[in-house]
Amino acid sequence: MSCVYFRSSWKYEDRSLRYALLDGGHHLGAIAAAAYAFEHPLELVFDFDKAQLNQAMGFANQEWALSAAISGCTIPRPRREFRLPMPFVCGTDYFIPNPFIEQGYQATLAPVSSRQPLRSPTWHYDRSKFLDAIYQRRSARCFRKVAISLAEYQAILSALTQPIATCSQEAIAIYAVVHRVTGLAPGIYRGEERLQDGEFSAKAAYLCVNQRIAGDGAVTFFLAAHPQNYQTAMQMAGVLGQRLYLASTYYGVACTGIGAYYDEETQTFLGTEKDILYALAIGQ
Ligand SMILES: Cc1cc2nc3c(=O)[nH]c(=O)nc-3n(C[C@H](O)[C@H](O)[C@H](O)COP(=O)(O)O)c2cc1C
Repeated sequence: MSCVYFRSSWKYEDRSLRYALLDGGHHLGAIAAAAYAFEHPLELVFDFDKAQLNQAMGFANQEWALSAAISGCTIPRPRREFRLPMPFVCGTDYFIPNPFIEQGYQATLAPVSSRQPLRSPTWHYDRSKFLDAIYQRRSARCFRKVAISLAEYQAILSALTQPIATCSQEAIAIYAVVHRVTGLAPGIYRGEERLQDGEFSAKAAYLCVNQRIAGDGAVTFFLAAHPQNYQTAMQMAGVLGQRLYLASTYYGVACTGIGAYYDEETQTFLGTEKDILYALAIGQ
């Protein structure tokens, strides 16, 4: 069994807790993709005694455990304390404390998400082509307002909606604002259900703090949830984000994450009281 603990360290005052947790989720998504490519089992773990681990690892207030990825079979063993304290080694040669991030991390350690049976995603990628997608994955910097095909959209959506391999349950709704998909009416969708017809590309760009990239693509996704545990839900949104990047790349479609959006106006636009966890845009 190998087990990787994800630590996050936040070095910049202007970097929000949202970005840090989404980035952590993207890392987990990258591990999930590698596990799939090399046919290794994987379980993501979000609910464990992070405070105890932080202390045992000597992280001080500079780094914190967020999640774990387990590959292989697990053999339960009694926990043993380290014989010697672990010295803390700073990952960089400077550290700028950020009370907002520190308080945010502590405040979102609990409660524990509800439990569910472990279900692994089922993808039907050609593994060698999928490896190429992992190597080629980049964030789109602009789109040409060109449509993608319905087949591409459906394949990407189907890859996105597979379960996350974890026993922690957070119900993440996937809203898609369709702008340019050949053969699909523009409008707001939740999964495959059409909620509202309309051409909302300018509105999507506005909601994402006037970023053209959010309206020039084929589809703008918003991930939303009533999180039981914010840390877990945000990392899961990051996992889905990485998954969307890779599925899009695999099918020849570009993708970018969008962490900047107006939360409340997006909720109103989508007609939901769920928290908006993450936005992403795909297109050509
Ligand atoms: C969580 C997250 C949020 C992001 N938010 C934005 C955004 O609001 N606007 C934008 O243009 N790009 C955004 N990006 C894309 C980043 O700018 C991009 O990932 C970064 O420049 C690294 O490039 P790469 O993904 O090609 O390695 C975001 C990426 C992530 C992972």
